[in-house]
Amino acid sequence: MFSFARLGLGSFLALAVLTAHTWADDSSTIPLGTDGVNINIVPNQYIIEFEGEPDTDAGEQATQDFFKSLSDGGISYTVYENYTSLFNGVFIGVDDKYFDAVYGITSAASVWATRLSNAGDQPPVPPNLPTSPPLPNLAHEYTGVNRVHNSTQWDGTGIKVGILDSGIDYNHPAFGGCYKTPGCRIQYGGNYVNDTDRADPLDTCNGHGTHVAGVLAGNHKEFRGVAPNATLGIYRIMDCKGVAPTNWVIKAAIQAEKDGMQVVNLSLGTPGGWRGWGESSIVNKLVRRGIYVITAAGNNGMDGLWTVVSPAVATQGIAVGAMELPRYYALHLNVTVAGKTIPIQRTEQQTDIPSLNLRNVRLVRATDADGTDLACTPLTQEIKGALVLAQRGTCDYTTKAINVLNAGGVALAIYNNRTDDMGPISYNQAVTLPSFSLTIADGQALVKLLGESGGSAATATVNHEVYAFDNALAYTPASYSAWGPDPEGAIKPDLLAPGSNVYSTLPLNMGSYGSMSGTSMAAPYVTGLVALLVQSQRATANLTLISNVVHTATPAKNAAGQYFSVAQQGTGLVNAWNALHADLAFTLRRSVPVYYDDRHYTKFPLKLWWENRVNAKVTYHFFSQPALSVSGVGTDSQSATPPRISTTAASVSFKQTSVSALAGNEGFAEVTISSSKFDRRDFMVYSGYIQATPTVGTGGINYTLPYLGSAYATVNLPLLQSNYAGLPCLLRESGGGCLDAKSVHRFTLTGKDFPVVAYRLQAPARQLMIKIAYAATPNSIHASVESYLYGMQSRSMDTNGVPFYTFRWNGRGHYVGKPLDVFDLPKNKYVLRFTFLSVFMNTESQTYFTPTIQLDGP
Ligand SMILES: *[C@@H]1O[C@H](CO)[C@@H](O)[C@H](O)[C@H]1NC(C)=O
Ligand SMILES: *[C@@H]1O[C@H](CO)[C@@H](O)[C@H](O)[C@H]1NC(C)=O
Ligand SMILES: *[C@@H]1O[C@H](CO)[C@@H](O)[C@H](O)[C@H]1NC(C)=O
Ligand SMILES: *[C@@H]1O[C@H](CO)[C@@H](O)[C@H](O)[C@H]1NC(C)=O
Ligand SMILES: *[C@@H]1O[C@H](CO)[C@@H](O)[C@H](O)[C@H]1NC(C)=O
Ligand SMILES: *[C@@H]1O[C@H](CO)[C@@H](O)[C@H](O)[C@H]1NC(C)=O
Ligand SMILES: *[C@@H]1O[C@H](CO)[C@@H](O)[C@H](O)[C@H]1NC(C)=O
Ligand SMILES: *[C@@H]1O[C@H](CO)[C@@H](O)[C@H](O)[C@H]1NC(C)=O
Ligand SMILES: *[C@@H]1O[C@H](CO)[C@@H](O)[C@H](O)[C@H]1NC(C)=O
Repeated sequence: MFSFARLGLGSFLALAVLTAHTWADDSSTIPLGTDGVNINIVPNQYIIEFEGEPDTDAGEQATQDFFKSLSDGGISYTVYENYTSLFNGVFIGVDDKYFDAVYGITSAASVWATRLSNAGDQPPVPPNLPTSPPLPNLAHEYTGVNRVHNSTQWDGTGIKVGILDSGIDYNHPAFGGCYKTPGCRIQYGGNYVNDTDRADPLDTCNGHGTHVAGVLAGNHKEFRGVAPNATLGIYRIMDCKGVAPTNWVIKAAIQAEKDGMQVVNLSLGTPGGWRGWGESSIVNKLVRRGIYVITAAGNNGMDGLWTVVSPAVATQGIAVGAMELPRYYALHLNVTVAGKTIPIQRTEQQTDIPSLNLRNVRLVRATDADGTDLACTPLTQEIKGALVLAQRGTCDYTTKAINVLNAGGVALAIYNNRTDDMGPISYNQAVTLPSFSLTIADGQALVKLLGESGGSAATATVNHEVYAFDNALAYTPASYSAWGPDPEGAIKPDLLAPGSNVYSTLPLNMGSYGSMSGTSMAAPYVTGLVALLVQSQRATANLTLISNVVHTATPAKNAAGQYFSVAQQGTGLVNAWNALHADLAFTLRRSVPVYYDDRHYTKFPLKLWWENRVNAKVTYHFFSQPALSVSGVGTDSQSATPPRISTTAASVSFKQTSVSALAGNEGFAEVTISSSKFDRRDFMVYSGYIQATPTVGTGGINYTLPYLGSAYATVNLPLLQSNYAGLPCLLRESGGGCLDAKSVHRFTLTGKDFPVVAYRLQAPARQLMIKIAYAATPNSIHASVESYLYGMQSRSMDTNGVPFYTFRWNGRGHYVGKPLDVFDLPKNKYVLRFTFLSVFMNTESQTYFTPTIQLDGP
């Protein structure tokens, strides 16, 4: 029996289990790049969660009902996997065209698309750094970790930490060089990837998992992870290309739970995620079983607001973004002019650079015949034995190298001509000239220096050592670190950890040690800290522990002294010492659920619940600190990426400005946040911190309690971006631009003569509904497009390569409520009506009508 209760969209809660949907049965090429709505979705594969717990009568009944409904509907399917722990469900193959029907089966509590997640971090650059001796982790000095290691015994001993990633090179000395043998630190794990037949999680082709495991728990001479003696479970779910479909993740998560992991770092993500997506749901299931789950916020920060990945949006996990720190290691060269030596960073270099060991060689600037320093023409000066500095551009790297070689140069430094990454230097001919790149700033500084030095010769020394550079971006959120809030308005990321140029372990065959950048490097830092907290047992309950990690961090300010938005940094940089010494645990509770904010966005009350866990009375004072307000919605003259910034802030009023907390007691303070000062049409997300500081001289640490809200009703948020390349519009699959909105457009539905609708979302939409109407009566629904539900869409993201979404209509549809009876619409004139639902409202928020589509098929 089918029940289509949920298709009626009667209640908002029903929509919470919605999933995005793949293309209808024609998945042929789309002219405008990728199908953005369903990017990273595996067609014809779904994970179904049934009502009821596994191994209960209710669960059994729901399972049977589900399969009976499929049979009754004549829907063929294949069961790939039965899930009987963690949740009651199944991984099945079923044709996408039946999605609406499957979705409508009431015994299915959730229907999740199978998504291909990936880590999305920058590959290791340079490919390797010197291995011997391994260097200490510079970040530990800025996060309280050194202080913890130097003066406490907490090191993760006896705590089981699960890592779901690309595996590990367990032969690496930093992990004991063993796998599951007695006394070995890696005691659990397995391979869930289908690309090898090995049962163990050896990582020799990707490196990501080995790198992050080092951040978390490496231990080799001077190099130490945050929890250097934790017991590890390594679950390999990412293949060599770094891809992980949902079904591998679920299998590994189930095993991690069975193995008794206490802390799990889940390594995957699809940008712009919603809580209702599969991976986020799995995180919450693990948390409900008492496991702490730490996730990386994602690396799409360049796309602005609402870019945090699923599963990092999972309410109960800890989502970690990346912060820049004051120092980092990099390969370098030393330039000496007039007795003064300056270390300069090497950015990229040839992957297999011949042993580079130049001592005090001449450094000269290339001179082309036309006076430039591009090295694109035979060089005019004699440069025998010199390291040559040339600018990027005009000709390829190979031409530059040949010109340098021909003039007698022994090495080449190419400086960038703009601020982007140059990428590794590679030659398209067999050229043996050691080469590396410099930033544009360093290149220009060197050019100036060489010019000014007049007669005095400059020399350079280059070898394979690293130098610890100062970071001009210190204490700012990394530009790639994904922005919250989650589409439903919750604070994400929760906090930040070191993520840029993070030095850690690599597989032995990839160089043993190297630097990588990404929020993936930040997440395991916090995972390690959670292991220390679990070991210290200071945290007596889940919420206390999470509170102690999140509320003891330090938020960062810009050069003007304004706090970066909570949507960008959560509570700021993690501090291990503070987290391990927190006496109070705060829980922030809104008195009205977030989704009611659509009615209460002008003002909301917040309760700051505290719990005193020390054997003494402590007194804390509250201060309010506003952060910058940000908008993800552009104006005619301004884009929303990066987000628009405003210093207008919400007003915060305290009912109590201090608390005196007696030993073992708990209580709350009340605060009201009001957004009355904002212009609602600015669509600002405001945020800030309530700081709780101990009475001077009494010891104790400071707490940072974040708040965030929207200064607008989400129903008014303009989802469709209208100032972008004429979108939304109708196109022809065969090519050409937007079709005229006023004309009638004929489509034969043969070859590539199909209608395609393109649109760009500047904010997340809960759902897209596509309806068919006769052109003569556009407001009267005739039928629905067979893929009725396009749920939970992300904002469109340029850095994903999906600046806008497309929908290709195959001329088919079904009557409302009859999803199995799909038919070809007869020759006639139609319009498609696209309705986008806002985050909380079931009302039809925004609508786009296509121009008239005349179906004129064969
Ligand atoms: C799933 O469970 C069903 C019913 O118990 C069984 O018939 C089927 O073989 C199982 N499938 C797999 C892939 O384990
Ligand atoms: C901890 O010890 C390391 C090495 O012994 C030292 O370099 C560092 O300064 C110490 N840091 C702190 C915060 O005590
Ligand atoms: C590391 O952990 C193991 C087992 O969990 C334990 O036997 C060992 O004593 C620990 N080492 C240190 C230095 O604490
Ligand atoms: C492995 O799984 C991926 C993702 O589901 C799939 O694309 C690929 O074809 C599979 N490979 C093999 C060898 O089965
Ligand atoms: C977390 O909460 C769950 C469920 O309440 C509980 O079973 C588990 O023991 C808790 N874990 C910790 C570390 O407190
Ligand atoms: C920089 O060099 C690249 C590569 O040759 C070239 O495509 C680009 O136009 C150059 N940009 C500038 C600003 O010179
Ligand atoms: C460069 O100079 C720094 C000190 O200024 C030194 O520590 C480093 O070893 C030198 N590097 C090379 C390659 O000589
Ligand atoms: C932790 O999880 C993040 C994503 O959630 C991932 O990118 C990172 O690689 C993981 N780290 C470890 C140690 O598994
Ligand atoms: C707490 O914050 C106050 C005010 O910002 C500052 O003066 C004080 O030094 C901080 N205390 C600690 C222990 O960090």
